[in-house]
Amino acid sequence: MSSKGLAGIVAGQTSVGEVTQTSLRYRGYSIGDLAENATFDEVAYLLLHGEMPKKGELAEFRTRVQASMELPDPVCNAMAAMPKETPPMDMLRSVASLLGHYDPEAQSNEPKANIRKSERLLGQMTAATGFWSHLINNVPIMKPDPSASHGANLLMMMLGKRGSELAGRVMDGTLILYAEHEFNASTFTARTIASTLADMHSAVSGAIGALKGPLHGGANEAAMYQFLDIGKPENVEKWFNDLEAHNAAHPENKRLLMGFGHRVYKNGDHRASILRDWSLQLSKETGQGHWIDMADRLQKLMLERKNIHPNTDYPAAHAYYQMGIPIPFYTPIFVCSRVTGWCAHIMEQYSDNRIIRPTSEYVGPPERKVVPIEKR
Ligand SMILES: CC(C)(COP(=O)(O)OP(=O)(O)OC[C@H]1O[C@@H](n2cnc3c(N)ncnc32)[C@H](O)[C@@H]1OP(=O)(O)O)[C@@H](O)C(=O)NCCC(=O)NCCS
Repeated sequence: MSSKGLAGIVAGQTSVGEVTQTSLRYRGYSIGDLAENATFDEVAYLLLHGEMPKKGELAEFRTRVQASMELPDPVCNAMAAMPKETPPMDMLRSVASLLGHYDPEAQSNEPKANIRKSERLLGQMTAATGFWSHLINNVPIMKPDPSASHGANLLMMMLGKRGSELAGRVMDGTLILYAEHEFNASTFTARTIASTLADMHSAVSGAIGALKGPLHGGANEAAMYQFLDIGKPENVEKWFNDLEAHNAAHPENKRLLMGFGHRVYKNGDHRASILRDWSLQLSKETGQGHWIDMADRLQKLMLERKNIHPNTDYPAAHAYYQMGIPIPFYTPIFVCSRVTGWCAHIMEQYSDNRIIRPTSEYVGPPERKVVPIEKR
């Protein structure tokens, strides 16, 4: 018996992250603890190196990651030559692959080389997102501030100017929340590619492709377009009723609510409530409380009528919108964070590898004979 979408299948072991119906832990630390008491740089170090860093280790790590934010010139030139309408996620997928051509250790799967590549990719994904914003949104190129958090630097590079102190903290926090989530679709893709003993850049490029879809990382962008479509909080109920009417009339073409539902968290996603609170704090600074009002109303209806909770992408949408980030950059932010989780899983896969090759249940025609072409 097959399981559609591999639901409920335990496809391997991991010590990187643990997801249960009610909790999320990175290497044993709960997401609430990390969100409150750590920075993204510490979390990235934890995922890639296995333990929380000491002060000196963190400082050296940050220096290495920031040094890699200087992208190779040929990569910048290739980005400048890309069509301006290229979706940022497609750009990142191509850039991850291109970076492999210029990484001196690209073809080495030695553990230490893979750590170094992971750290480089972390800096490079952030730098590429910032540089793309420069190319597309005409914002000035910003160099990372050595004293700022990774999140504040990413925000500054995307906006071409420093964000508020609170916005920088919230951005850094969202990177913590997005960093790791065990065998989600993109991580599993990365592990599958790594399991063939292909290189890290191939695995990360594949993972970016998997993350792009609206059922996975692309949901944060889709959720924001949904809020814009609703328009104002007073429209929520009618909008929801119209959607329900559409779904009743066209069961073959059901429209999902973006930012809701999860394969594992059927009783709510802890990350979503943390991020909703941060977005609420932001709204006091931006004066854009209507997004939270709208989101809360829709969340209430969805719970009452379908018993489905929001996931992280739901509050990420209104938090990023309030920071002034263009919507097509929301999923790239996810990449800038999740690249740490992917690389940790890729390294774990290499360290105890067996090629990932499931089997399928055949449901096609029974055995038959080829009829010569002139007789068909
Ligand atoms: C995340 C997601 C892909 C999980 O898929 P899944 O595990 O296969 O979902 P399930 O099969 O458990 O869903 C159970 C039921 O809830 C419904 N459902 C799940 N998410 C829904 C949503 N966002 N809107 C409306 N209905 C939803 C399904 O249609 C299904 O209904 P049915 O039994 O009548 O067919 C899915 O919830 C979804 O597409 N969400 C919207 C996209 C999104 O926000 N993705 C981000 C994920 S973090």
